[in-house]
Amino acid sequence: MEGKVSVLLKRVGKMEPANVEEYKSLGGFEALEKAVKKMTKQEILDEVDKGVLLGRGGAAYPAGRKWKQMMAIEGDPKYIVCNGDEGEPGTFKDRELLSKTPLSVIEGMIIAGYVFSAKKGVIYIRGEYREIQKTFQVALDNARKAGYLGENIMGVEGFNYDIVIVSGAGAYVCGENSALLNSIEGKSGRPRVKPPHLAEVGLYSKPTLVNNVESFASIPVIIAEGGDAFRNYGVETSGGTKLICLSGHAKNKGVYEIGLGTSLYDILYSEEFGGGTASGRPIKFVHFGGQSGPIGFPEQFNVPYDHTSLKNVGLSVGSGAIVVMDDTVSLVEYCKKVIEFFVHESCGKCNPCRIGSERMLDLLNKFLDGTAVEGDIERLEELGNMIKLTAACGLGQTINTALNCCLKHSRYEFEALIKKNDVWE
Ligand SMILES: Cc1cc2nc3c(=O)[nH]c(=O)nc-3n(C[C@H](O)[C@H](O)[C@H](O)COP(=O)(O)O)c2cc1C
Ligand code: SF4
Repeated sequence: MEGKVSVLLKRVGKMEPANVEEYKSLGGFEALEKAVKKMTKQEILDEVDKGVLLGRGGAAYPAGRKWKQMMAIEGDPKYIVCNGDEGEPGTFKDRELLSKTPLSVIEGMIIAGYVFSAKKGVIYIRGEYREIQKTFQVALDNARKAGYLGENIMGVEGFNYDIVIVSGAGAYVCGENSALLNSIEGKSGRPRVKPPHLAEVGLYSKPTLVNNVESFASIPVIIAEGGDAFRNYGVETSGGTKLICLSGHAKNKGVYEIGLGTSLYDILYSEEFGGGTASGRPIKFVHFGGQSGPIGFPEQFNVPYDHTSLKNVGLSVGSGAIVVMDDTVSLVEYCKKVIEFFVHESCGKCNPCRIGSERMLDLLNKFLDGTAVEGDIERLEELGNMIKLTAACGLGQTINTALNCCLKHSRYEFEALIKKNDVWE
């Protein structure tokens, strides 16, 4: 289904976000009732699989596959963890769900709790969303009062499950799922070496399902409407709707819900969405999916916005961030900002990322202060590739994604800043 849709956000503005009665009057908790009273656990897993829900946190791992893998793992207790860290720059869509329709996220987490017979769910919400944490807590309390959390949920004996909020403290790397679990456990928020996978050795070393806020919010839609109907909001290889975040120099900034497969060109240029740039100047480039994502240029924009189509032209959906830049922005300056971010956010666990990111920044600074020499572009490329290959987590492994896109497309912008070895100087 192309264009703007209202599926995950369908109740927004029509009810008090944390009010259970209003939520129910708009079809809320029907999916949970259906899952618990009319479906087997295998049927629930099959529907999630059919929906082709690719994880909305950035890595796009199929939720159906993750849920089935989790089901196959023995162990007790099992934990459900919702990743609401939302640290990826340019990403502000989980905020929309957490603040405006928190009960949808809670319903998705309860369905997961039921499927995996978990007793405890944890939602990790970034510390900067202090006010949203309060709203979410009220929604949890109301759900508990209404019998959707706690003991013998909905009168089903032995269905005991509750959810707590854990607050993040401002580190980007804590959005990485294993660092997030360490942070919940009260340890230093650094990624773990994988394998073992979190489905086997997760929170407190127990089997753990980690999904993003938007992924959980999609679960009630899949159960209520069926996996096929959910997939049909998107395309065959990438089902459902997606919340996208337009920012930077876009004229109409904000969060939009679209059917996956909507034209990227329309998203960027049509008045219904981004509307081009606020300055009226041409779009020079667009950064997709956060700092770890690729940068795209206008000749790549004539594609549908879905995981497969974007991948085919070297772009990605990632978290849903779409940062638009007009032609006043220097690519070299922009890359410097990206690397500065990684230097700041590197957790320091592995040397290539901790030290290498700083050396990348040193090299980029040379281009900007006029001291770059022949070979510096190659040194930058080599260093970025080395970090990517040797880093322990997704942060270091994506450090050069944006830079490589810029070098591939507009190497001349970097070359133009190289000091020439002029013998007559
Ligand atoms: C450095 C880094 C930061 C991340 N930040 C987030 C985040 O803020 N929110 C999120 O949901 N996933 C984030 N992820 C991805 C998670 O590790 C994980 O893939 C995701 O929570 C799984 O949920 P999903 O399958 O529903 O997308 C991050 C990954 C990395 C490497
Ligand atoms: S790659 Fe960077 S952020 Fe990831 S564990 Fe290593 S030092 Fe930490």
